[in-house]
Amino acid sequence: MKILVTGGTGYIGSNTVVLLLKAGYEVVICDNLYNSQIEVVDKIKKVTGKEVAFYKTDILDREGLDKIFNEHKIDAVIHFAGLKAVGESVAKPLFYYHNNIEGTLALCEVMAAHGCKSIVFSSSATVYGKPESVPIREDFPLSTTNPYGSTKLMIEQILQDLYVSDNEWNITILRYFNPIGADETGTFGENPNGIPNNLMPYIVKVANKELPHLNVFGNDYDTVDGTGVRDYIHVVDLANGHLKALDKLNGVNIYNLGTGNGYSVLQLVKAFEEQNGIEVPYVIAPRRPGDIAECYADPAKAYNELGWKAERDVVDMVKSAWNFCVKNFK
Ligand code: NAD
Ligand code: WQD
Repeated sequence: MKILVTGGTGYIGSNTVVLLLKAGYEVVICDNLYNSQIEVVDKIKKVTGKEVAFYKTDILDREGLDKIFNEHKIDAVIHFAGLKAVGESVAKPLFYYHNNIEGTLALCEVMAAHGCKSIVFSSSATVYGKPESVPIREDFPLSTTNPYGSTKLMIEQILQDLYVSDNEWNITILRYFNPIGADETGTFGENPNGIPNNLMPYIVKVANKELPHLNVFGNDYDTVDGTGVRDYIHVVDLANGHLKALDKLNGVNIYNLGTGNGYSVLQLVKAFEEQNGIEVPYVIAPRRPGDIAECYADPAKAYNELGWKAERDVVDMVKSAWNFCVKNFK
C-alpha cells in the first residue's frame, strides 16, 4: 500500500513515516516545510534504509497535490499538515483558518477527484474544551477555546459531513492528548523555534541551559500537587496508533489517543530530573489563561476497536526527550 503523509517531515509525521516504512508501506511525503526541515527526509532514509518520495508542496496548492496523485497511486492519506500553536492562532486567526481548513478542503477535493477516499486525520484533545470530568471519552461534549482548536473541530465536522454525502469515504479522526519524547535513535523529536509554548520542550531547553528556569503555570489547581495534570503520550506510541487506524479504516470513526494516565507538571519535572540526572530549576508563576486543571483520556475505545494502547511509560518519555536534545543540540 502507498500512503501519502501530509506534514510528514514534522514531529509526529516523521515518527509515523518511519514506522510505516519499517512496516513495509510505501510512503510519499507532502510538506511545505513551514515548520520542519528538508534534512528530515534524509534522516528518515538513513534510519529506515528505505526510499521515500518527498514533495515540497503546500496542501493549499491543488495543482501541486494533483501532480502527486498523478505520479503515485495513493491508497490512503494520513493528514498531519497544519499549524498548531494555540497562542499564534489567537493572534492570527485568519492564517489558521485559511491554512488548516482550506488546506483540508483542497486535499479532500483532490483525493476525491483521484478516487482516493481513505483518510486518517490529526485532531486534538483540545476539541473537548473544558471537560466537566476526567477521564475524557469520545462522546463527551465538544467546544473550543481558541482558533486553533476551532479549526480542528470544524475539520472533524467537515469530514463527517463528507462521509454522510458519500459512504465510500473511510475516515478516522484521532484525537491526540499531549505527545512528547522522541524515537529511540534520538533523531525525530520536537524542537520548536524560539521560546517553547509546550511544557516538555521548555523543560528540555531549561535542562540544556538555553533558558534559566521553567515557569510552572499555577500551583493552586484542585490536583494532586496543585499543578496542571495532562495525559502525556510517547510520540512513538502515538505514531503506532496511525498504523492501527490505517488497518481498520472503515466508515467514519473517532478515537482518543492517550495513555489514560495523568501526570502533573511537577511530577513530569521530577521524572525528568531523576531519570536524566539533571536539575530543572522552576518558579511558580500565575495560571496561564485558558488552562484547565486536568485533562486525560479514556483510551478504551482505541484499545477495543483498533487493538491499540500506549506501551511506553513516562520514564521512556522523559529519557527520549533528553536523548534527542543530547544527540542534536549539545
Ligand atoms: P509539526 O508542526 O511538527 O508538523 C506539521 C507539519 O505540517 C510541519 O512539517 C509543517 O511544515 C507542515 N505544514 C503546515 N501547514 C502546511 C501546509 N499548508 N501544507 C503543507 N505542509 C504544511 O506538528 P506536529 O506536532 O507533528 O503535529 C502534527 C499534527 O498533529 C498537526 O495537525 C497538529 O495540529 C496535530 N496535533 C499535534 C499535537 C501536539 O501536541 N504536537 C497535539 C494534537 C494534535
Ligand atoms: C501542559 C501543562 C501547563 C508550559 C497544548 C494544546 C493542545 C495540544 C497539546 C495540539 C499545563 C503547564 C506549560 C510551561 C507550564 N496541542 N506548563 N509551564 O496546554 O495541555 O495542550 O498542547 O493540539 O491543543 O493546547 O500542553 O504542554 O502547553 O501544557 O507550567 O512553560 O504544563 O499549564 O498544565 P496543553 P502544554
